[in-house]
Amino acid sequence: MHVWQVPITVHFDHGTSKPELMEALELGFDSVMVDGSHLSYKDNILYTKYISSLAHSKGLLVEAELGRLSGTEDDLTVEDYEAKLTDVNQAQEFIDGTGIDALAVCIGNVHGKYPPSGPNLRLDLLKDLHTLCSKNGVIVVLHGASGLSKELVKVNSVFWLGCIERGVRKFNVNTEVRKAYMESLSSPKKDLVHVMASAKEAMKAVVAEKMHLFGSAGKAW
Ligand code: 13P
Repeated sequence: MHVWQVPITVHFDHGTSKPELMEALELGFDSVMVDGSHLSYKDNILYTKYISSLAHSKGLLVEAELGRLSGTEDDLTVEDYEAKLTDVNQAQEFIDGTGIDALAVCIGNVHGKYPPSGPNLRLDLLKDLHTLCSKNGVIVVLHGASGLSKELVKVNSVFWLGCIERGVRKFNVNTEVRKAYMESLSSPKKDLVHVMASAKEAMKAVVAEKMHLFGSAGKAW
């Protein structure tokens, strides 16, 4: 039998409080996201820096958000008027002040569903943030990747560069995976094991599709 070895990393997303992040550091996650986007800019730096030093002392990677994403995740809603795009000058100061490895950028991306008119991403801002991040050896992360078209994700012509070509190296997808799970529950099944198996298959299909879209499929050997 052939044993496939696929490198997997387990990441703790949106740590909005010190106690939960301290627990995540103890539990053995490979990386954590410090989400201080609800705090003032100064407090976000202090909070992120604190967790960042602890995580780095354990050899873990740290992602943090600058700006603020609107939308709904885990039944929590950040209203549109609270959303804030990432500021390039602040980003340099934030990276210097916190020592993070990855920056979750806010360029018009949202958690949950995009409006019927579709996503309105500031790709010019993404390009500037990527230039700055690469100078500092920081990875660019895009949350709110459910509902992004193929055209927005990657190059589709010599005239059009997508988010990957503009620097994004990690996409966060949640809504589409959850939707597949919920939809699988709507068709009747004979037993709980079938309900669980079909929900798992539905989620796996979305993950596989996204891995192909983002270009991470087939890289394990
Ligand atoms: P979506 O809501 O677009 O799936 O984004 C998820 C996300 O960014 C999780 O952190």
